Amino acid sequence: MKSDIYLNSLASKKCSALNGSARIPGDKSISHRSIMFGSLAIGETIISGLLEGEDVLHTAEAMRAMGAKIYNSDDGLWHIYGVGIGGLQEPSQVLEMGNSGTSTRLLMGLVGGHNITATFAGDASLTKRPMGRVIKPLEMMGATFLSRSNGRLPLTVKGAENTLPIEYKLPVASAQVKSAIMLAGLNAAGRTTIIEDHPTRDHSENMLRAFGVDVEVEELEGGARAIHIQGQQELKGCAIDVPSDPSSAAFAVVAALIVNGSEVTLNNVCINETRIGLYTTLIEMGADIEFKNKRIQGGEPVADIHVKGAGSLKGIEVPQSRVPSMIDEFPILAVAAACASGTTKMSGLKELRVKESDRLLMMYEGLKACGISLNMGEDSLTINSNGGGCMGGACVETALDHRIAMSFLVLGCVSKEPIEIDDGEPIKTSFPNFIELMNDLGADIG
Ligand code: S3P
Repeated sequence: MKSDIYLNSLASKKCSALNGSARIPGDKSISHRSIMFGSLAIGETIISGLLEGEDVLHTAEAMRAMGAKIYNSDDGLWHIYGVGIGGLQEPSQVLEMGNSGTSTRLLMGLVGGHNITATFAGDASLTKRPMGRVIKPLEMMGATFLSRSNGRLPLTVKGAENTLPIEYKLPVASAQVKSAIMLAGLNAAGRTTIIEDHPTRDHSENMLRAFGVDVEVEELEGGARAIHIQGQQELKGCAIDVPSDPSSAAFAVVAALIVNGSEVTLNNVCINETRIGLYTTLIEMGADIEFKNKRIQGGEPVADIHVKGAGSLKGIEVPQSRVPSMIDEFPILAVAAACASGTTKMSGLKELRVKESDRLLMMYEGLKACGISLNMGEDSLTINSNGGGCMGGACVETALDHRIAMSFLVLGCVSKEPIEIDDGEPIKTSFPNFIELMNDLGADIG
C-alpha cells in the first residue's frame, strides 16, 4: 500500500518481534557544534562519528563559506582547520539552511558576533519558524537584522563591529538560544552570562571545554543555571568522538517496546541527563530499558541501551519539569502512549507548536486518523488507549517534519492496517539510514 499521489511516500506494516543490535547515527546537536567550534579553532579538529545528515551538512557548507577548511577522509573522519575567533570571512552567497533550525539559530549567533554580513534562507518549514528569540539578545550584543515579518527567514544579519557582552535570562527554555548567545559571546570583549530557569542540553558548554575554553556553570536556586563565558579566548583544535543520538535511538527503542517479544541493543548512545527525559518516562510507564556499560566519551556520558519489549506499557502523567530534557521526543512518546494501557497526559508543550512543524497538531491529527482516542489543548495532549495497538490504514501528513515521519512509521509496526506517510524525504535531515536500520531489526517499512 503506497500512494501514487505522493512521490516520496513510505508505508510501515505490522511486523513480528524486533531483534538485534544497531549503531544509531551520531548525535545531531553534538555534530553541529563540533563543526562550528572546529571552524573557530586554531589547528586541526578531527571528528569521528559525525552525523552525515542533511542538517549537519548545511552547517558544514555554511562554515566553508565563511572560511573554514573542512573535508572528510575515506576512513569516515572529518577534518577541520578553523579560522580563529574573530577570523570568519563574509560569505559571498546566501547561506542555505534547508530544514535546520539548529544550524540557523546557532550560526546567527556566530555571524552576529563577527563584523560580517550574511543572509540565511531555508525550506518551507524553516521559513515559518520564529527567529525573534535569537534576534533580541543578539541586537543587545550589537548585531542588526533585516527579516520578514515576525523575524522569519529569509533574513540578513549584520554582525556587531564590537560585540558587547550581555547578561540575559532566557524567556523560553532553549538550548539553541543559549548557544547562539554563547557563540556571539565568544567574540565579545568581556563576560557574557546566560541564565536558564530549566536546564537545557549543555553540549555547547561541554564541548567548548574540550576546545580549551573556560566556561563556568553556576547552579542557582530551584534548578536554574547561570552560564558564564569570557570572550576572546582561543579555541584549540581537538579530537571529538560523537556518540549516537538518543533522540534518534528513541524510535528504535519505542518500536522494540511496543512490539511484543522484541530485544534490541543500541550501542554507544549519549545519555547526557539533559537529553534522556524520554527514557525516564518510558521506565515509569513500565518499560524494560537498561543503560549498560556506562562510560564517559569526549566529555559526554554514553551507554549501550538494552530494551526488551513486552507490549505492556501503562499510561502516566509526564511532569512538566521534564519537558526540556525530552523536547524532541514527544512525537515518539505519543506513539508509545497510543500503545499503552490507560491515559497518558503531557502538558507544558507550547514549544512543540514551533518545531519543524506544529508537532501537537500533526500528532493529534495523525493519531486520530489511525483510530486513537485523544484530546489536544493549547499546550497539551492526552491519549487514551487500551494497549491493543491501533487500526492504522491512514495516510498521515508529516509537514516536512522528520520526527513526525519516523514516529508514524514506528506506529505502523503494530497497527492492524499499514500506516503510510506522505513524505519520507525529511528523515534524511537527522537519520539517513533509518529505514535500513529499522528493517534490519525486523520492521517492514518501504
Ligand atoms: C537543539 C535544541 C532544541 C531541539 C533541537 C536541537 C540544539 O531546540 O529541539 O532539535 O541542538 O540546541 P530548542 O532550543 O528550540 O528547544
